[in-house]
Amino acid sequence: MTAPDRSTHDAEDDPRNDDILIYVDGALVPKMDAKVSVYDSGFMLGDGMWEGMRLHAGQWAFFDDHMDRLFGSLKAVSLDPGLTRADIRAILDRTAQANGMTGDAHCRLMITRGRKAKPFQHPALSRWGPTVVAIVEHSRPSGAVQARGIRLATVPQVRGLPHSQDPKFNSHSKLNCVIACLQAEQAGADEGLMLDPHGFVNTTNACNFFIVRRGQVWTSTGDYCMNGVTRQKVIDLCRANDIPVFERNFSLVDVYSADEAFLTGSFGAQTPVAELDGKLIGAGPGAGPITIRIRALYKDLIARDVAAQAARVG
Ligand SMILES: Cc1ncc(COP(=O)(O)O)c(C=O)c1O
Repeated sequence: MTAPDRSTHDAEDDPRNDDILIYVDGALVPKMDAKVSVYDSGFMLGDGMWEGMRLHAGQWAFFDDHMDRLFGSLKAVSLDPGLTRADIRAILDRTAQANGMTGDAHCRLMITRGRKAKPFQHPALSRWGPTVVAIVEHSRPSGAVQARGIRLATVPQVRGLPHSQDPKFNSHSKLNCVIACLQAEQAGADEGLMLDPHGFVNTTNACNFFIVRRGQVWTSTGDYCMNGVTRQKVIDLCRANDIPVFERNFSLVDVYSADEAFLTGSFGAQTPVAELDGKLIGAGPGAGPITIRIRALYKDLIARDVAAQAARVG
């Protein structure tokens, strides 16, 4: 399989990432030596949770929101990380410092149920406590992707109901999303737009999804999609800045005729959507005026968030 043309997680090439140190269970180890056991529950079963966060001015943007989501998910699956939020911040800071990073960095923090005594499913077989890994990479979202926008295809894979595997879990098992991404690629697109079980537009395989119609911003009700930190910040920013915003059901018909569409996620912030199912969205590639406005408001919000965190620490 060839590398994708573009995805919301495309970063500018940075050769420094070949030599980063990765946190694995208390040690900082060179990338090539950073390994977990083949008995690890994350590897074997997808039994673990993760968070993606960005470093700005020495602080992890919206750290508390990410920790709320992470600790909520861990509690729901009875996975005791054996760490406090302060411990996690210290791990991430230590890893960033060891790599000489203060900004333009992206972390993937992973906590699994840990190594198992036998290669079977029962959670009690994870006897030695969790496995904790933090990968922090130098990362600048691709300027080309932000300028051209993403091509989406509507995919047959749908979001799940909360009583099977709740799609709000940022679990190591992302197979539902991976299948959606494969289907999008087979349709010649970069990412998959996923519907909910009723056929309403929900989210993409990796990001939350918004459209703009006649000056109004629409996103899904929030059921069936990841409770994205960036999604919530965009909704809050719209409310605070008199941009009409609605969490509502809508269909593909509304998307094809939207004026703008964009994706949200910690990595790419707000990434414009250029086309869906081969149909151009709005005026063509690149962000539309409301997306540009929201992007500026979000950038400013991050600056305020990290300044407030720095003030608390200092
Ligand atoms: C399926 C999915 N949607 C959306 C997001 C974006 O969430 P956030 O804005 O918290 O990065 C993620 C990221 O973890 C995700 O996996």
